[in-house]
Amino acid sequence: MMIDTLLRYDTNAPRYTSYPPANLFRPAETKQEIEALWRASNNLYPQNLSFYFHIPFCTKRCLFCGCTSEVMQDASARDLYFESLYSEMAEKLLWISDKRPVTQVHFGGGTPTSVPFEILDTILHKLRARFPFAENAEIAIECNPSSITEERLRTLALMGFNRISYGIQDFNPEVLEIIGRDPSLLPVNELVKLSRELHFSGINLDLIYGLPGQTEANFYDSVQKAVEAAPDRIALFSYAHVPWLKENQKLLEKYPMPNAREKMTFFLEARKRFIEAGFVDVGMDHFVKPTDSLAIALQEGVLHRNFQGYCTRKTTGQVYGFGSSAISQLDNAYTQNIHDSAHYTELQLSGKMTEIRCHPLDEKQKVLRDTIERLMCNRLLRVDEREKEILGAGWERLLALESKGLLVKVSDDEIRTTELGTLVIRYLAMQLDPLMQNCKTEGVFSKTI
Ligand SMILES: C[S@@+](CC[C@H](N)C(=O)[O-])C[C@H]1O[C@@H](n2cnc3c(N)ncnc32)[C@H](O)[C@@H]1O
Ligand code: SF4
Repeated sequence: MMIDTLLRYDTNAPRYTSYPPANLFRPAETKQEIEALWRASNNLYPQNLSFYFHIPFCTKRCLFCGCTSEVMQDASARDLYFESLYSEMAEKLLWISDKRPVTQVHFGGGTPTSVPFEILDTILHKLRARFPFAENAEIAIECNPSSITEERLRTLALMGFNRISYGIQDFNPEVLEIIGRDPSLLPVNELVKLSRELHFSGINLDLIYGLPGQTEANFYDSVQKAVEAAPDRIALFSYAHVPWLKENQKLLEKYPMPNAREKMTFFLEARKRFIEAGFVDVGMDHFVKPTDSLAIALQEGVLHRNFQGYCTRKTTGQVYGFGSSAISQLDNAYTQNIHDSAHYTELQLSGKMTEIRCHPLDEKQKVLRDTIERLMCNRLLRVDEREKEILGAGWERLLALESKGLLVKVSDDEIRTTELGTLVIRYLAMQLDPLMQNCKTEGVFSKTI
Protein backbone atom coordinates (compact mmCIF):
# COMPACT_ATOMS: atom_id res chain seq x y z
CA MET A 1 0.00 0.00 0.00
CA MET A 2 2.72 2.46 1.00
CA ILE A 3 4.67 1.62 -2.14
CA ASP A 4 1.62 2.16 -4.36
CA THR A 5 1.10 5.58 -2.82
CA LEU A 6 4.76 6.50 -3.16
CA LEU A 7 4.86 5.41 -6.79
CA ARG A 8 2.08 7.90 -7.54
CA TYR A 9 4.64 10.62 -6.80
CA ASP A 10 7.46 9.09 -8.86
CA THR A 11 8.14 11.98 -11.16
CA ASN A 12 11.10 13.70 -12.81
CA ALA A 13 12.15 16.48 -10.47
CA PRO A 14 15.20 18.57 -9.57
CA ARG A 15 17.24 17.45 -6.57
CA TYR A 16 17.22 21.11 -5.45
CA THR A 17 20.86 21.10 -4.40
CA SER A 18 20.65 24.69 -5.61
CA TYR A 19 17.78 27.02 -6.35
CA PRO A 20 17.28 27.45 -9.22
CA PRO A 21 18.58 24.05 -10.37
CA ALA A 22 22.01 24.31 -12.02
CA ASN A 23 20.65 23.59 -15.54
CA LEU A 24 18.75 26.87 -15.33
CA PHE A 25 21.78 29.07 -14.60
CA ARG A 26 22.37 31.54 -17.43
CA PRO A 27 25.56 31.96 -19.49
CA ALA A 28 28.19 34.00 -17.63
CA GLU A 29 29.06 37.23 -19.45
CA THR A 30 32.32 38.75 -18.25
CA LYS A 31 35.05 38.05 -15.75
CA GLN A 32 34.29 41.44 -14.18
CA GLU A 33 30.74 40.32 -13.51
CA ILE A 34 31.97 37.20 -11.68
CA GLU A 35 34.56 39.18 -9.72
CA ALA A 36 31.92 41.71 -8.65
CA LEU A 37 29.62 38.92 -7.41
CA TRP A 38 32.44 37.24 -5.42
CA ARG A 39 33.60 40.55 -3.95
CA ALA A 40 30.04 41.52 -2.97
CA SER A 41 29.69 38.21 -1.11
CA ASN A 42 32.34 39.39 1.40
CA ASN A 43 29.72 41.65 2.96
CA LEU A 44 27.02 38.97 3.03
CA TYR A 45 26.24 36.04 5.33
CA PRO A 46 27.33 33.57 6.44
CA GLN A 47 30.77 35.06 6.86
CA ASN A 48 32.29 31.56 7.19
CA LEU A 49 34.24 30.34 4.22
CA SER A 50 33.67 26.94 2.65
CA PHE A 51 35.93 25.87 -0.20
CA TYR A 52 35.36 23.19 -2.79
CA PHE A 53 38.12 21.78 -4.99
CA HIS A 54 37.15 19.62 -7.91
CA ILE A 55 39.60 16.87 -8.78
CA PRO A 56 38.12 15.36 -11.95
CA PHE A 57 40.49 12.42 -12.35
CA CYS A 58 39.90 8.72 -11.75
CA THR A 59 42.02 5.71 -12.58
CA LYS A 60 39.14 4.18 -14.51
CA ARG A 61 35.56 5.09 -15.35
CA CYS A 62 32.79 3.26 -13.51
CA LEU A 63 29.87 2.48 -15.78
CA PHE A 64 27.21 3.83 -13.42
CA CYS A 65 29.05 7.10 -12.79
CA GLY A 66 27.04 10.30 -12.99
CA CYS A 67 29.83 12.54 -11.67
CA THR A 68 31.98 14.99 -13.63
CA SER A 69 34.97 12.71 -13.86
CA GLU A 70 37.43 11.44 -16.42
CA VAL A 71 40.17 8.87 -16.68
CA MET A 72 43.55 10.48 -16.16
CA GLN A 73 45.34 10.14 -19.51
CA ASP A 74 48.85 11.10 -18.50
CA ALA A 75 50.77 12.97 -15.84
CA SER A 76 51.38 16.00 -18.05
CA ALA A 77 47.64 16.64 -18.53
CA ARG A 78 47.19 16.26 -14.79
CA ASP A 79 50.04 18.67 -14.02
CA LEU A 80 48.60 21.23 -16.43
CA TYR A 81 45.25 20.94 -14.68
CA PHE A 82 46.79 21.70 -11.31
CA GLU A 83 48.89 24.52 -12.72
CA SER A 84 45.55 26.02 -13.82
CA LEU A 85 43.92 25.37 -10.47
CA TYR A 86 46.80 27.09 -8.61
CA SER A 87 46.53 29.98 -11.05
CA GLU A 88 42.77 30.19 -10.46
CA MET A 89 43.43 30.26 -6.72
CA ALA A 90 46.12 32.96 -7.07
CA GLU A 91 43.65 35.12 -8.93
CA LYS A 92 40.37 34.55 -7.11
CA LEU A 93 41.46 34.10 -3.50
CA LEU A 94 42.31 37.81 -3.64
CA TRP A 95 38.64 38.56 -4.28
CA ILE A 96 37.75 37.00 -0.91
CA SER A 97 38.32 38.95 2.30
CA ASP A 98 41.13 37.45 4.39
CA LYS A 99 39.24 38.44 7.56
CA ARG A 100 36.75 35.63 7.00
CA PRO A 101 37.37 32.29 8.76
CA VAL A 102 37.54 28.96 6.92
CA THR A 103 35.19 26.41 8.48
CA GLN A 104 35.06 23.86 5.66
CA VAL A 105 37.25 22.58 2.86
CA HIS A 106 35.98 19.80 0.63
CA PHE A 107 37.88 17.84 -2.00
CA GLY A 108 35.55 16.02 -4.38
CA GLY A 109 35.51 14.65 -7.85
CA GLY A 110 36.30 12.44 -9.58
CA THR A 111 38.60 10.82 -7.12
CA PRO A 112 40.78 13.22 -5.12
CA THR A 113 42.84 10.28 -3.85
CA SER A 114 43.86 9.39 -7.43
CA VAL A 115 46.39 12.24 -7.57
CA PRO A 116 49.68 12.52 -5.63
CA PHE A 117 48.89 13.72 -2.11
CA GLU A 118 51.48 16.52 -2.38
CA ILE A 119 49.03 18.25 -4.71
CA LEU A 120 46.24 18.20 -2.11
CA ASP A 121 48.74 19.41 0.49
CA THR A 122 49.82 22.32 -1.72
CA ILE A 123 46.19 23.42 -2.11
CA LEU A 124 45.66 23.33 1.66
CA HIS A 125 48.87 25.31 2.23
CA LYS A 126 47.75 28.00 -0.18
CA LEU A 127 44.49 28.39 1.74
CA ARG A 128 46.22 28.40 5.12
CA ALA A 129 48.63 31.06 3.90
CA ARG A 130 45.77 33.45 3.18
CA PHE A 131 42.88 32.78 5.57
CA PRO A 132 42.44 32.13 9.29
CA PHE A 133 41.11 28.60 9.89
CA ALA A 134 38.45 27.98 12.57
CA GLU A 135 39.71 25.65 15.27
CA ASN A 136 37.36 22.85 14.26
CA ALA A 137 37.42 23.44 10.53
CA GLU A 138 36.09 20.40 8.66
CA ILE A 139 38.56 19.24 6.03
CA ALA A 140 36.87 16.58 3.96
CA ILE A 141 37.83 14.22 1.19
CA GLU A 142 35.96 11.77 -1.03
CA CYS A 143 37.88 8.51 -1.41
CA ASN A 144 37.64 5.50 -3.62
CA PRO A 145 38.43 2.68 -1.15
CA SER A 146 40.08 0.62 -3.89
CA SER A 147 43.06 2.97 -3.61
CA ILE A 148 43.27 3.39 0.17
CA THR A 149 45.94 1.67 2.22
CA GLU A 150 46.64 2.21 5.91
CA GLU A 151 49.73 4.24 5.06
CA ARG A 152 47.85 6.53 2.66
CA LEU A 153 45.10 7.08 5.22
CA ARG A 154 47.70 8.07 7.84
CA THR A 155 49.18 10.56 5.38
CA LEU A 156 45.75 12.13 4.81
CA ALA A 157 45.25 12.46 8.57
CA LEU A 158 48.69 14.07 8.97
CA MET A 159 47.82 16.55 6.23
CA GLY A 160 44.87 17.72 8.35
CA PHE A 161 41.96 15.83 6.79
CA ASN A 162 39.37 15.05 9.48
CA ARG A 163 36.24 14.12 7.48
CA ILE A 164 36.17 11.21 5.08
CA SER A 165 33.72 9.60 2.72
CA TYR A 166 34.18 6.26 0.97
CA GLY A 167 32.41 5.31 -2.25
CA ILE A 168 31.38 1.73 -1.51
CA GLN A 169 28.29 1.59 -3.78
CA ASP A 170 27.72 -2.13 -3.14
CA PHE A 171 29.55 -4.94 -1.36
CA ASN A 172 28.58 -7.70 -3.79
CA PRO A 173 31.44 -8.72 -6.12
CA GLU A 174 29.11 -9.50 -9.05
CA VAL A 175 27.39 -6.12 -8.83
CA LEU A 176 30.78 -4.40 -8.59
CA GLU A 177 31.91 -6.30 -11.66
CA ILE A 178 28.84 -5.21 -13.65
CA ILE A 179 29.27 -1.55 -12.73
CA GLY A 180 33.00 -1.72 -13.43
CA ARG A 181 34.35 -1.10 -9.94
CA ASP A 182 37.22 -2.56 -7.98
CA PRO A 183 36.41 -3.54 -4.39
CA SER A 184 37.90 -1.86 -1.33
CA LEU A 185 41.55 -2.81 -0.75
CA LEU A 186 40.98 -3.12 3.00
CA PRO A 187 37.89 -4.80 4.47
CA VAL A 188 35.41 -1.94 4.90
CA ASN A 189 34.96 -2.50 8.65
CA GLU A 190 38.74 -2.19 9.11
CA LEU A 191 38.77 0.94 6.98
CA VAL A 192 36.14 2.55 9.21
CA LYS A 193 37.91 1.45 12.40
CA LEU A 194 41.23 2.77 11.18
CA SER A 195 39.66 6.06 10.07
CA ARG A 196 38.22 6.47 13.58
CA GLU A 197 41.57 5.70 15.21
CA LEU A 198 43.06 8.43 13.05
CA HIS A 199 40.42 10.88 14.39
CA PHE A 200 38.35 11.22 11.27
CA SER A 201 34.72 11.96 12.13
CA GLY A 202 31.54 11.93 10.11
CA ILE A 203 32.97 8.78 8.49
CA ASN A 204 30.64 8.11 5.59
CA LEU A 205 29.92 5.19 3.27
CA ASP A 206 28.13 5.80 -0.05
CA LEU A 207 25.80 3.01 -1.17
CA ILE A 208 23.60 2.97 -4.26
CA TYR A 209 20.31 1.15 -4.76
CA GLY A 210 18.78 0.37 -8.12
CA LEU A 211 21.97 -0.81 -9.82
CA PRO A 212 21.89 -3.61 -12.39
CA GLY A 213 22.71 -6.95 -10.78
CA GLN A 214 21.20 -6.02 -7.44
CA THR A 215 18.64 -8.46 -6.08
CA GLU A 216 16.74 -8.27 -2.82
CA ALA A 217 19.02 -10.94 -1.36
CA ASN A 218 22.38 -9.49 -2.37
CA PHE A 219 21.32 -5.89 -1.69
CA TYR A 220 20.13 -6.56 1.88
CA ASP A 221 23.37 -8.39 2.43
CA SER A 222 25.22 -5.21 1.41
CA VAL A 223 23.01 -3.22 3.77
CA GLN A 224 23.93 -5.59 6.58
CA LYS A 225 27.65 -5.27 5.79
CA ALA A 226 27.35 -1.48 5.85
CA VAL A 227 25.71 -1.65 9.30
CA GLU A 228 28.42 -4.01 10.55
CA ALA A 229 31.13 -1.64 9.36
CA ALA A 230 29.64 0.87 11.86
CA PRO A 231 30.31 4.15 10.04
CA ASP A 232 28.95 7.47 11.37
CA ARG A 233 26.98 8.07 8.20
CA ILE A 234 25.56 6.08 5.32
CA ALA A 235 24.42 7.84 2.16
CA LEU A 236 21.99 5.61 0.30
CA PHE A 237 21.67 7.09 -3.17
CA SER A 238 19.08 6.15 -5.74
CA TYR A 239 20.89 5.15 -8.92
CA ALA A 240 20.40 8.11 -11.26
CA HIS A 241 20.22 6.67 -14.74
CA VAL A 242 20.71 9.60 -17.10
CA PRO A 243 22.22 8.05 -20.26
CA TRP A 244 21.29 11.17 -22.26
CA LEU A 245 23.91 12.98 -20.16
CA LYS A 246 26.31 10.14 -19.34
CA GLU A 247 27.28 7.93 -22.29
CA ASN A 248 29.01 5.40 -20.01
CA GLN A 249 25.66 4.46 -18.46
CA LYS A 250 24.35 3.20 -21.83
CA LEU A 251 26.62 0.17 -21.38
CA LEU A 252 24.55 -0.86 -18.38
CA GLU A 253 21.36 -1.06 -20.39
CA LYS A 254 22.11 -4.62 -21.50
CA TYR A 255 21.47 -5.76 -17.91
CA PRO A 256 18.05 -5.96 -16.33
CA MET A 257 17.62 -3.05 -13.98
CA PRO A 258 15.33 -2.85 -10.96
CA ASN A 259 12.14 -0.96 -11.84
CA ALA A 260 10.69 1.87 -9.75
CA ARG A 261 8.66 -0.52 -7.57
CA GLU A 262 11.67 -2.73 -6.90
CA LYS A 263 13.82 0.31 -6.18
CA MET A 264 11.30 1.62 -3.69
CA THR A 265 11.18 -1.80 -2.03
CA PHE A 266 14.99 -1.81 -1.74
CA PHE A 267 15.03 1.68 -0.29
CA LEU A 268 12.23 1.14 2.24
CA GLU A 269 13.67 -2.14 3.48
CA ALA A 270 17.20 -0.69 3.74
CA ARG A 271 15.79 2.34 5.57
CA LYS A 272 13.96 0.07 7.99
CA ARG A 273 17.11 -1.94 8.66
CA PHE A 274 19.28 1.15 9.18
CA ILE A 275 16.74 2.62 11.61
CA GLU A 276 16.47 -0.70 13.47
CA ALA A 277 20.26 -0.69 13.74
CA GLY A 278 20.10 2.69 15.51
CA PHE A 279 20.72 5.13 12.64
CA VAL A 280 18.60 8.27 12.29
CA ASP A 281 17.26 9.06 8.83
CA VAL A 282 18.35 12.49 7.73
CA GLY A 283 17.53 14.41 4.56
CA MET A 284 16.47 12.42 1.52
CA ASP A 285 18.87 9.56 1.71
CA HIS A 286 21.23 9.73 4.71
CA PHE A 287 21.34 7.57 7.81
CA VAL A 288 23.51 8.77 10.65
CA LYS A 289 24.36 7.89 14.22
CA PRO A 290 22.23 9.83 16.73
CA THR A 291 25.43 11.49 18.04
CA ASP A 292 26.52 12.66 14.58
CA SER A 293 26.43 16.41 13.93
CA LEU A 294 23.85 15.91 11.14
CA ALA A 295 21.38 14.16 13.49
CA ILE A 296 21.83 16.96 16.03
CA ALA A 297 21.37 19.59 13.31
CA LEU A 298 18.12 17.92 12.19
CA GLN A 299 16.84 17.99 15.76
CA GLU A 300 17.78 21.65 16.14
CA GLY A 301 16.27 22.57 12.75
CA VAL A 302 19.60 23.77 11.35
CA LEU A 303 20.35 21.01 8.84
CA HIS A 304 21.62 22.48 5.60
CA ARG A 305 22.58 21.14 2.21
CA ASN A 306 24.92 22.21 -0.54
CA PHE A 307 26.58 20.58 -3.55
CA GLN A 308 28.97 18.80 -1.18
CA GLY A 309 26.13 17.10 0.71
CA TYR A 310 24.32 17.60 4.01
CA CYS A 311 25.97 19.84 6.57
CA THR A 312 24.97 22.11 9.40
CA ARG A 313 24.20 25.80 9.17
CA LYS A 314 26.60 26.36 12.06
CA THR A 315 29.74 25.39 10.18
CA THR A 316 28.83 25.88 6.55
CA GLY A 317 29.79 29.09 4.89
CA GLN A 318 29.30 30.52 1.45
CA VAL A 319 31.02 28.02 -0.84
CA TYR A 320 33.81 29.09 -3.23
CA GLY A 321 34.53 26.42 -5.84
CA PHE A 322 37.73 25.89 -7.82
CA GLY A 323 38.53 23.61 -10.72
CA SER A 324 36.53 22.35 -13.69
CA SER A 325 32.75 22.19 -13.15
CA ALA A 326 33.05 23.61 -9.61
CA ILE A 327 30.02 25.59 -8.48
CA SER A 328 30.32 28.49 -6.06
CA GLN A 329 27.28 28.94 -3.86
CA LEU A 330 27.27 32.48 -2.56
CA ASP A 331 24.52 34.31 -0.75
CA ASN A 332 23.97 36.53 -3.79
CA ALA A 333 24.71 34.17 -6.68
CA TYR A 334 25.86 30.88 -8.12
CA THR A 335 28.81 30.78 -10.49
CA GLN A 336 29.98 27.67 -12.32
CA ASN A 337 33.20 26.76 -14.09
CA ILE A 338 33.30 25.00 -17.44
CA HIS A 339 32.87 21.21 -17.14
CA ASP A 340 35.58 19.97 -19.44
CA SER A 341 38.96 19.95 -17.69
CA ALA A 342 40.99 20.55 -20.88
CA HIS A 343 38.86 23.60 -21.72
CA TYR A 344 39.13 24.80 -18.15
CA THR A 345 42.94 24.57 -18.35
CA GLU A 346 43.03 26.38 -21.68
CA LEU A 347 40.82 29.22 -20.45
CA GLN A 348 42.57 29.72 -17.12
CA LEU A 349 46.07 29.65 -18.55
CA SER A 350 45.19 32.14 -21.27
CA GLY A 351 43.73 34.58 -18.74
CA LYS A 352 40.14 34.12 -19.91
CA MET A 353 37.16 33.52 -17.63
CA THR A 354 36.63 29.89 -16.61
CA GLU A 355 32.99 30.40 -15.67
CA ILE A 356 30.44 29.39 -18.24
CA ARG A 357 27.35 29.89 -16.19
CA CYS A 358 26.15 32.01 -13.32
CA HIS A 359 22.98 33.04 -11.63
CA PRO A 360 22.72 36.24 -9.60
CA LEU A 361 19.82 35.79 -7.18
CA ASP A 362 17.16 38.41 -6.59
CA GLU A 363 15.42 38.73 -3.22
CA LYS A 364 12.46 36.62 -4.34
CA GLN A 365 14.70 33.77 -5.47
CA LYS A 366 16.62 33.91 -2.19
CA VAL A 367 13.34 33.33 -0.37
CA LEU A 368 12.49 30.43 -2.69
CA ARG A 369 15.96 28.94 -2.20
CA ASP A 370 15.74 29.28 1.53
CA THR A 371 12.22 27.92 1.97
CA ILE A 372 12.79 24.95 -0.35
CA GLU A 373 15.96 24.11 1.57
CA ARG A 374 14.27 24.46 4.97
CA LEU A 375 11.43 22.20 3.87
CA MET A 376 13.73 19.58 2.36
CA CYS A 377 16.29 19.50 5.19
CA ASN A 378 14.20 20.05 8.26
CA ARG A 379 10.86 18.60 7.06
CA LEU A 380 9.13 21.65 8.40
CA LEU A 381 8.28 25.02 6.96
CA ARG A 382 7.23 28.00 9.02
CA VAL A 383 6.92 31.19 7.01
CA ASP A 384 6.46 34.85 7.86
CA GLU A 385 4.09 37.16 5.98
CA ARG A 386 6.75 38.31 3.52
CA GLU A 387 7.78 34.74 2.67
CA LYS A 388 4.15 33.67 2.32
CA GLU A 389 3.51 36.51 -0.09
CA ILE A 390 6.56 35.64 -2.18
CA LEU A 391 5.71 31.93 -2.24
CA GLY A 392 2.17 32.87 -3.33
CA ALA A 393 0.60 30.04 -5.32
CA GLY A 394 3.42 27.69 -4.25
CA TRP A 395 2.41 27.96 -0.60
CA GLU A 396 -1.23 27.32 -1.58
CA ARG A 397 -0.22 24.26 -3.64
CA LEU A 398 1.60 22.83 -0.64
CA LEU A 399 -1.32 23.58 1.70
CA ALA A 400 -3.72 21.96 -0.76
CA LEU A 401 -1.84 18.68 -0.40
CA GLU A 402 -3.16 18.37 3.14
CA SER A 403 -6.60 17.53 1.82
CA LYS A 404 -5.07 14.45 0.21
CA GLY A 405 -4.24 13.64 3.80
CA LEU A 406 -0.96 11.88 3.29
CA LEU A 407 1.96 14.14 2.62
CA VAL A 408 1.80 17.18 4.88
CA LYS A 409 0.17 18.34 8.10
CA VAL A 410 -0.72 21.98 8.46
CA SER A 411 -1.21 24.05 11.60
CA ASP A 412 -1.31 27.86 11.64
CA ASP A 413 1.58 29.00 9.47
CA GLU A 414 3.47 25.76 9.71
CA ILE A 415 3.69 22.80 7.36
CA ARG A 416 5.24 19.55 8.51
CA THR A 417 5.91 16.66 6.18
CA THR A 418 4.49 13.30 7.17
CA GLU A 419 6.64 10.16 6.96
CA LEU A 420 5.23 9.58 3.48
CA GLY A 421 5.78 13.21 2.51
CA THR A 422 9.40 13.02 3.67
CA LEU A 423 9.91 10.09 1.31
CA VAL A 424 8.74 12.16 -1.68
CA ILE A 425 10.26 15.44 -0.54
CA ARG A 426 11.42 16.41 -4.05
CA TYR A 427 7.78 16.30 -5.18
CA LEU A 428 6.81 18.56 -2.27
CA ALA A 429 9.65 20.99 -2.99
CA MET A 430 8.51 21.16 -6.60
CA GLN A 431 5.13 22.51 -5.43
CA LEU A 432 6.88 25.61 -4.08
CA ASP A 433 8.83 26.16 -7.27
CA PRO A 434 7.20 28.48 -9.85
CA LEU A 435 9.77 27.39 -12.46
CA MET A 436 8.52 23.81 -12.40
CA GLN A 437 4.87 24.52 -13.12
CA ASN A 438 3.81 23.42 -16.61
CA CYS A 439 7.34 22.79 -17.82
CA LYS A 440 9.00 19.71 -19.28
CA THR A 441 10.88 17.74 -16.62
CA GLU A 442 11.17 14.36 -18.35
CA GLY A 443 14.61 13.88 -19.89
CA VAL A 444 15.78 16.93 -17.93
CA PHE A 445 15.70 15.80 -14.30
CA SER A 446 16.17 12.33 -12.81
CA LYS A 447 13.25 10.36 -11.36
CA THR A 448 12.46 10.94 -7.72
CA ILE A 449 12.52 7.17 -7.10
C1 LIG B 1 32.81 11.52 -6.60
S1 LIG B 1 32.13 9.97 -6.18
C2 LIG B 1 32.98 9.48 -4.69
C3 LIG B 1 34.47 9.28 -4.72
C4 LIG B 1 35.06 8.26 -5.66
N1 LIG B 1 35.11 8.78 -6.98
C5 LIG B 1 34.36 6.95 -5.64
O1 LIG B 1 33.61 6.67 -6.59
O2 LIG B 1 34.54 6.21 -4.67
C6 LIG B 1 30.61 10.51 -5.46
C7 LIG B 1 29.51 9.52 -5.23
O3 LIG B 1 28.46 9.79 -6.13
C8 LIG B 1 27.63 8.64 -6.20
N2 LIG B 1 27.21 8.45 -7.60
C9 LIG B 1 27.98 8.51 -8.70
N3 LIG B 1 27.24 8.25 -9.79
C10 LIG B 1 25.96 8.05 -9.37
C11 LIG B 1 24.73 7.77 -10.02
N4 LIG B 1 24.65 7.63 -11.35
N5 LIG B 1 23.62 7.63 -9.26
C12 LIG B 1 23.67 7.77 -7.92
N6 LIG B 1 24.80 8.04 -7.25
C13 LIG B 1 25.94 8.18 -7.96
C14 LIG B 1 28.44 7.47 -5.72
O4 LIG B 1 27.85 6.93 -4.57
C15 LIG B 1 29.81 8.08 -5.44
O5 LIG B 1 30.40 7.49 -4.32
S1 SF4 C 1 32.12 6.66 -9.36
FE1 SF4 C 1 33.92 7.69 -8.52
S2 SF4 C 1 35.66 6.42 -9.18
FE2 SF4 C 1 33.96 5.83 -10.44
S3 SF4 C 1 34.19 7.07 -12.28
FE3 SF4 C 1 32.76 8.15 -10.91
S4 SF4 C 1 33.98 9.55 -9.77
FE4 SF4 C 1 35.39 8.05 -10.70
